[in-house]
Amino acid sequence: MRIVIVSNRLPVSITKDKKNNNKFQKSAGGLATSIGAYTEKITELSYTWVGWPGIGTTIKSEQDEITDSLQNIHCYPVFLTEKEMDKFYLGFCNRTIWPLFHYFPTIASFKKEYYNMYKSVNLKFAKALSNIINENEDIIWVHDYHLMLLPSLLRQSYPTLAIGFFLHIPFPAYEVFQLLPSQWRIEIIEGLLGADLIGFHTHEYTDNFLRATLRFAGLENHLGVINNKGRLVKVGTHPISIDYLKFSKTAKSPSVISKTQEIKNQFKNKKILFSVDRLDYTKGILNRLLGFEYFLDKYPAWRESITLIIVVVPSRIGVFHYQQMKKQIDETIGRINGKFSTVEWTPIVYKFGSLDFENLVSFYSASDIMLVTPLRDGMNLVAKEFIASKQEKNGVLILSEMAGSAKELLEALIINPNSIEEIGEAIKKALDMSKEEQSQRIEKMQERISRYNVFRWVSDYLNELNKTTLLQKQMESQ
Ligand code: G6P
Repeated sequence: MRIVIVSNRLPVSITKDKKNNNKFQKSAGGLATSIGAYTEKITELSYTWVGWPGIGTTIKSEQDEITDSLQNIHCYPVFLTEKEMDKFYLGFCNRTIWPLFHYFPTIASFKKEYYNMYKSVNLKFAKALSNIINENEDIIWVHDYHLMLLPSLLRQSYPTLAIGFFLHIPFPAYEVFQLLPSQWRIEIIEGLLGADLIGFHTHEYTDNFLRATLRFAGLENHLGVINNKGRLVKVGTHPISIDYLKFSKTAKSPSVISKTQEIKNQFKNKKILFSVDRLDYTKGILNRLLGFEYFLDKYPAWRESITLIIVVVPSRIGVFHYQQMKKQIDETIGRINGKFSTVEWTPIVYKFGSLDFENLVSFYSASDIMLVTPLRDGMNLVAKEFIASKQEKNGVLILSEMAGSAKELLEALIINPNSIEEIGEAIKKALDMSKEEQSQRIEKMQERISRYNVFRWVSDYLNELNKTTLLQKQMESQ
């Protein structure tokens, strides 16, 4: 049995170094991190990962060279042209679906040329897959909002192929999904229904999808199973997680312990607030900054005794709303630092870039408070990573109720990210929390995430997929 993982972006993105040689870089974001952790660890797994390699070459010899080098790491590239990237990736994926599914309908663009390109790139993926699929041995696992038409495109050619689909972002409420033009929304639902199992992070997203399927495709479900013209499709909730042990072990390693100490020494006698996200307007970075400003205004005694370290990882800079967000973050940090800084103290330390794994764990481990304040987020793995890295069981997680992970991390200080006051007051509450309470809360969350880790997530999902295909076979043989 081989698993064919399909996602828009491969777990590595190719960039050029100074000498114009290809350089592999780990891709950012929850999808690549979580499934990448699984494929890295399960060495006996037979798999191929199909997706865009992050580079848009149309030169055949270069494509062949990239294809060869990716083969060594189980990856198979689908090359997208600049025009495809513009209208498919920057267009329909990130100017239509991303804002709409994250409840930003007013900035969603509904251009037909974007949707047409979305269809044609999904078809391109189906064609690329036909070069490698073995219908009787492969399990195809399609990921995320870039490829929602792909399951049914594959189904047309492979009636018995096991196909799973997982959505890593929210599936919105019916009224929001309804904003998509009628032909698009029905094609998207039908596209997804080509899979045997459709997975979502939370029960709400699952319910939203089932309701949309009933309203727009007239298909009822029985305990999450839809009978789609004689073919069974299971719809289920599978909250994604992290490689818990990788974080907990790294946090205990000598090099991270010493880096953690270095960070603490650097911010001596100060409480450390930490946050790290991809640059995205959904992440609530501005509200977080304003919440911190509110806190410094309301509790001046804390000035000079607290520092917010904020890391923003560059992302989708080709989309206007991301450029605008970057500018607003830069300006707001500049303004707040200008307002409160003293000769000895800068309230916000800001890095626009990424941290390597050890540094990331060191910052999680050194921080007293972690701020995760998205306005909407499918899951948010950063919150889970912070908890897993807290091996001394100290520290407080402030978490937005709009993140899927808030359904599991119940002992975090849960806030509404639209309220600057709630964020500011949660910082105060976290600072006042006793060590004992911190450790009790962290321990409970650690118990939960260590049990339901990314390995469990993959095996539960694949078991469920297997059960659904067996059920289908039983039904056909009756
Ligand atoms: C989110 C999405 C992923 C995506 C990642 C990074 O986590 O769910 O599908 O890969 O963001 O975004 P990018 O646009 O760089 O692939």
